[in-house]
Amino acid sequence: MSSLITKWSQQNKVDYGKRPLTALHNLHKSNNYDDEHLAKLLEAYPRDKLGIHTMGQNPEDWTTFVGGDAGDLSGEELVQAVKKGRIWLNLRAVNDDIDEYAELCDEMFNEVESCIDRKTFKHDLGVLISSPNVQVFYHLDISLSLLWQLRGIKKVRIYPNSSEFAPDETIEGIILKETEEEFEFKPEFDKHAFEVDLEPGMFASWPQFAPHRIENQNMLNVSLSVEYVTLQAILQANMLYTNGYLRRRFGVNPVRETSNAVKLWSKAALARLLKLNRCEQRFQNDLRSYFKIDLSEENCVRFYDKPQ
Ligand SMILES: [Fe+2]
Repeated sequence: MSSLITKWSQQNKVDYGKRPLTALHNLHKSNNYDDEHLAKLLEAYPRDKLGIHTMGQNPEDWTTFVGGDAGDLSGEELVQAVKKGRIWLNLRAVNDDIDEYAELCDEMFNEVESCIDRKTFKHDLGVLISSPNVQVFYHLDISLSLLWQLRGIKKVRIYPNSSEFAPDETIEGIILKETEEEFEFKPEFDKHAFEVDLEPGMFASWPQFAPHRIENQNMLNVSLSVEYVTLQAILQANMLYTNGYLRRRFGVNPVRETSNAVKLWSKAALARLLKLNRCEQRFQNDLRSYFKIDLSEENCVRFYDKPQ
């Protein structure tokens, strides 16, 4: 009997993986996500793994999303800064470092697997603690994601995973690690988005490679980012890796294999070989720190004169 996922409808089963959907959980009822517990979690989580970012207001200007550092601020001070400022904290793979989250992750995926009726791999449970009104820019992920809302409300917009919104060449570039996950967003895309105000107790799912962007309402938000892959997702990513290689190496325009299993498996197998021999220059994430969290500053952000 399910204990975390409280509503997963027949329609959810039909829609899963094909279109965006929302369902219900009860994790928000636990007090594990109040300020006190968040502060303790931030103390326990390795500070050098903590993702700290700020960003601008314009949803088209994704290059304003920059990394920062927290110095020796306590967990409690960090929670205060997020409440007051314009900060986005990402505790990636918290299941690798904190025992109770490792247990939660196992429990979640047991339930997720029975809902989606397939095996999942590479489980990554992240905790996102973010300021009022901040945003996550238009981007897509190679792995599959579920977003579980625990505190606050955020507007989630999910766009079709078609060539107009996510060209194959762009997805291939992300898989080949040529670029970041963010890419060009046009405001007119919003007309085509699945849009939901995600409230505590709801979670959202969307098809692999579907671009999405997120805006917090005017309050602190706490969410769980649940990332994983399935066999089908691995095959799709590897097939696009091969397509990307063929496009770049031979100037061809390969198609995405969705129905031909032989071609899909062949291209995915070829990707395994290509990865062994690939030696092109890869995109390097900008890991520099552009600001320090400072409770006395506007938005709790003090930019350095030069990135560190
Ligand atoms: Fe994402």
